[in-house]
This record gives sequence, C-alpha cells and structure tokens, in this order.
Amino acid sequence: MKVLVLGGGGREHALARALSRDPNVVSLHCAPGNPGTSALGENHVVNVTDPVAVRELAGRVRADLVVIGPEAPLVAGVADELRHYGVPCFGPDSRAARLEGSKSFAKEVMRAAGVPTASARTCDSPAQVRAALEEFGGPYVVKADGLASGKGVVVTEDMAEAEQHASRHEKVVIEEYLDGPELSLFALSDGTNAVPMLPAQDYKRALDGDLGPNTGGMGAYAPVPWVPDDLVDQVMAEVVRPTIAEMARRDIPYQGVLYVGLALTSSGPRVVEFNARLGDPETQVVLDRLATPLGGLLLATATGGLPPQTTLEWRPGAAVTVVVSADGYPSDPVTGDLVTGISAAEEVAGAYVLHAGTAWSGAHDITTAGGRVLSVVGTGADVPTARASAYAAVERIELRGARVRTDIASGVGAEG
Ligand code: AMP
Ligand code: GLY
Repeated sequence: MKVLVLGGGGREHALARALSRDPNVVSLHCAPGNPGTSALGENHVVNVTDPVAVRELAGRVRADLVVIGPEAPLVAGVADELRHYGVPCFGPDSRAARLEGSKSFAKEVMRAAGVPTASARTCDSPAQVRAALEEFGGPYVVKADGLASGKGVVVTEDMAEAEQHASRHEKVVIEEYLDGPELSLFALSDGTNAVPMLPAQDYKRALDGDLGPNTGGMGAYAPVPWVPDDLVDQVMAEVVRPTIAEMARRDIPYQGVLYVGLALTSSGPRVVEFNARLGDPETQVVLDRLATPLGGLLLATATGGLPPQTTLEWRPGAAVTVVVSADGYPSDPVTGDLVTGISAAEEVAGAYVLHAGTAWSGAHDITTAGGRVLSVVGTGADVPTARASAYAAVERIELRGARVRTDIASGVGAEG
C-alpha cells in the first residue's frame, strides 16, 4: 500500500513512523512533511489546504490512502475532494469536520445526541456575552467559534478578561466550567462502527503546574494508569456511538478519528471538546504503543471496513512525550534558531526524537520553523521509566531559549 500523509508536525512524524512499521506500507509520502519524515519517505511541497493540489499529488504518487493530519485541510474540504475522486482518505469531509471547526455546531450535535457536556450559550453580541457570563458565573470559559489552533479558548476568573476575549471574535461559545482531570480519547470511526484507542493525557498550558496560556499541547503520556477500567466503554456508549449515530442520521457520515477531550468531573465524564483529527502531542504516545499495523487500520476506517467488534492490540509499557518549543512560544515563537543534540538524545535508552517545527538549513543543520520544535519521546516498562527516558533525552537537546515543561507525567505512578 502507498500512503500519503498530509501535514508536517510532530503528529505527522509519529504517523509516518508508525506507518513505516506496517509491512503492508510499501511506500510513504509526506506533504509537506519535515526533516524527520524525510528519513522515512519522500517529502513533497504542497499547499495542504488546496483540495485540487492535494488530489493531484495523491494521483502522482499513486496513493492508496491519504491520511490527513491537521484540521485545516479537513475544514477546507480536502477529504471531500479526495473521496469524490475515489481516493480513500482518512479524515472526515468538511461538513463532518465542523464538529471541530464550529464549537456551536458541536454543541448542537451533542445536545441532539444526549452527550454529556458543559451547558453552553452561543453569543454574538456584548449583551449576550454579559448575560451568559453572569448566568454561569466564574471561572469563565469563553471559546471562539472557529478554528484557533488550541488558542481560541480563555478560562479566567476575571470577568473583564472574559469579555475582552469575547469582543475579539464575532461569535463565541460561553460555557459552564468543568472541574476535574482531563483526558483525550481517540475513536476511529468508519461512519458506522467505531473503535477506541488508548486514552492519553495531554498538558495544554504553557508552564509547569498548568499555569500560563493554552498551547497546542506541551507533552503527553499513555497509557493513563489511573483511568478506571470501565471508562473507555462508558465514553464509547455515552459519547462516541451516539455522536456517530447522530451524524449518520443527519446524513453526514463521520469517517476518520473523533477526538474526544474529556473532563472527568465528580458527576462523570463530560466532553470539553471534539476534534476531527488526532491530537498533537497525544498521537506521539498513543501510536508508540499501538501494535496493530496502522496502514490497514486507517484504510479500513477510510473505506467503511471496520468490523463491528474490532479491538486494537497494544504493546505493554508506556510512552511519555515532552515538547521542546521555541523561544517566545506560544505568543511569538522565534524561527531560524539552530537545534543540535538530536542524535545524542536518541542514544538515551528508550528515547527517540520526533520533529515538529523544524527545517533544514543547508545540508546538515536543523533550525526552528514553528512554535513546537521537537516532540521527544521516552518509552519504558511504565510511566515513571518512560518519563525518565524522555527527560534524559531532552537534556541533550540544545536550543537557545527553549521552552520545556518539567512536569509532564510527574506524579503519575506505575500502577493505577
Ligand atoms: P478546547 O479548545 O475547547 O479544548 O479548550 C482548550 C482547553 O481549555 C481545554 O483543554 C481545557 O483545559 C480548557 N477548557 C475548555 N472548556 C472548558 C470548560 N468548560 N471547563 C473548564 N476548562 C475548559
Ligand atoms: N493536544 C491537543 C490537540 O491536539 O488539540
């Protein structure tokens, strides 16, 4: 099977790495890819949000499957174009991707499907904003309605800051604050059947102790030993299956991955957000543990071929990823800085380095080209061992002004 992966971040490097482990994947292409993916397959230059350009590239490389990593091409209709021309595509079409692209659409579907989530109001005037903030009280949660790379959400005790964030967007969703630890669960859906992957925990805030602004994600680990045994079944029954059935009822079959961001509140799991793609950096740890060959799995998801009772195989042990981000991330990441020590980091037992926002500078040098620069993965028999491996590897990376959280997976024990 020939596979084309769209995107060029840490998630796409992880996808390419897992696909290259699948013996049925005979050739691998990435667009645009990054210096890390160039070691696994061929990188191509393409505008990933141009459906026709992507379809032409898929034709040129004779792709049997296109895997769409980021949300922008999904919302731009790349999957629609590929499916229209009969190219199997992992990723929902633009109408289905509105589960991520529009917070208000997602809320409407959740309401119709009876999915447990925070109560919310969609507001498009300052008066509505004020009324909703007063109704729910603090901490205030204000979300821009459209895509914002994980940066459209403000959670604050300060009413003035909440109102100010709302005033920067035409339409916002204001919702009830959900308390409790967060968890990401990815479910693969072929439009009818769905299968869960391993839950992972992500660290969204920029600074240690969950302080600072929201980011795309600063680190993650999987499996999550403290998750109750029946949680995944409960989320499949209460969230994933009703959502997929509701989408099918609306004649918007959902094919791809449904990313369920959960808060485990005292009254049970509640959906914080849906995304229409794999999470970054959770993918890096989840795919590290996957033993089921990825190419066949994504192709079955793309073509309506997931058997109803599919279960996935997982390797024993754990993975932890720590994101090394650029000076100035998340507000103003500095690009063009030299990154060294990657080979040394990969000499640490159990560790390897995924590229996220990097570029070649000349034939040998790697420089920063995005906010999140590297996703350093450590593996081991359990979370503490994997964590030690990841941080030992991070120590060997040299990047001026690097921003790294030091508390990824800290306090997580070996057992539940
Ligand atoms: P989202 O883009 O919707 O995932 O929001 C980004 C982050 O903001 C989430 O991962 C949470 O940490 C936080 N957040 C979003 N919605 C809520 C909520 N209703 N209650 C508490 N925190 C939230
Ligand atoms: N790690 C969070 C996200 O991918 O949205």
